[in-house]
Amino acid sequence: MYKTLISFTVTLVLVSGQTWADDAALRTKAENAGLKPIPLAYQRVNDNALSQEKLELGWMLFFDPRISASGLISCNTCHNLSTGGDDNLPTSVGHGWQKGPRNAPTVLNSVFNSAQFWDGRAPDLKEQAKGPVQAGVEMANDSVSVVKTLNSMPEYVERFEQAFPGQADPVTFDNMAKAIEVFEVTLVTPNGPFDQWLRGNDDALTDAQKAGLELFVDKGCTACHSGVNVGGQGYFPFGLIKKPGADILPPDDKGRFEVTKTVSDEYVFRAAPLRNVSLTAPYFHSGQVWDLQQAVSVMALSQLGVELSDEQAGLIADFLRSLEGEQPHIGYPVLPVETAATPRPRF
Ligand code: HEM
Ligand code: HEM
Repeated sequence: MYKTLISFTVTLVLVSGQTWADDAALRTKAENAGLKPIPLAYQRVNDNALSQEKLELGWMLFFDPRISASGLISCNTCHNLSTGGDDNLPTSVGHGWQKGPRNAPTVLNSVFNSAQFWDGRAPDLKEQAKGPVQAGVEMANDSVSVVKTLNSMPEYVERFEQAFPGQADPVTFDNMAKAIEVFEVTLVTPNGPFDQWLRGNDDALTDAQKAGLELFVDKGCTACHSGVNVGGQGYFPFGLIKKPGADILPPDDKGRFEVTKTVSDEYVFRAAPLRNVSLTAPYFHSGQVWDLQQAVSVMALSQLGVELSDEQAGLIADFLRSLEGEQPHIGYPVLPVETAATPRPRF
């Protein structure tokens, strides 16, 4: 009965072409469910004061392939800022054409996640940035070689000195990660249609998106996907009510269990942040679902035990498209040239 009523209301609004009856009530409902706009000022991060010098250095490092062993792979290879901050592959391809085990999440708005990675194993962005550089299937480098590479180029040395003033030896792996973190703080996408609507512009969402938002809250998606990032805050079993098939939830990736070694954390993953989700197919940590509407249906069934009609799943997908914000326009940095002391590419 309840289901019929919702679908009747939704159909009525759409078919009659009426404008949404009560934006204020829906806004209150969304806010009560914990949905929030992206702040217009940059976030502060722990133990790493923001500065223009760190920002510029981090921007250069993010695009510099020479922090990888091969000299070919930069952060931007897998987190391409021209394509939503990810690589649009099922699972990433890194050093020596190796395929990694998981889909690359976007770096956009990652500063709003309570912890980084699908399993939350890095507490913040500076800790996270050290991972890929040293991961064998990603950049396959080591901290000593990275520091040697950076020290071999005088412009980098000078920029580290300016970004970390007063330090005797500022060119360190930790400082590299801190500079990248500051750059990532600026990779945010405010002012999307949903943010504008939350701030009071009734016309920023279509009626279909409003109907989708109402379903998103009423069906219970916001129990796990809320906050600024519409997710990225808590951990939940993927398949809480009904396990998806082994293609979507491969049995060998036990998620957070690898971090905590607690049995109840088997197949537990961080609720994915849904900001810009329309730009970041394919979906799930396995990257096996290319269609957003299908991903919505998979979620409803696996996490809530709800079978959505195609129309309902379509409306929720329409709402999720309103989470696409203004993309940061980042220029391509001109990087310092190598010297005779720069370590040679290794394959
Ligand atoms: C995860 C940044 C290099 C593939 C992440 C996350 C961030 C990030 C912030 C977590 C996002 C989230 O949890 O929502 C960086 C930076 C890099 C870099 C700053 C350079 C230093 C790469 C490269 C690849 C890659 C080169 C591909 C070869 C991935 C994958 C994940 C990930 C697959 C998810 C891994 C997991 O959850 O276990 N990256 N990344 N990243 N990145 Fe990168
Ligand atoms: C992932 C939507 C309900 C927990 C996702 C993704 C979408 C989505 C589109 C994939 C994002 C991506 O790969 O970038 C929805 C919708 C829901 C819903 C529309 C309501 C119908 C829930 C609930 C929970 C939850 C209730 C918690 C019980 C998760 C988790 C992931 C995820 C843990 C990551 C899964 C993985 O490891 O790949 N959600 N979700 N979701 N969601 Fe939901």
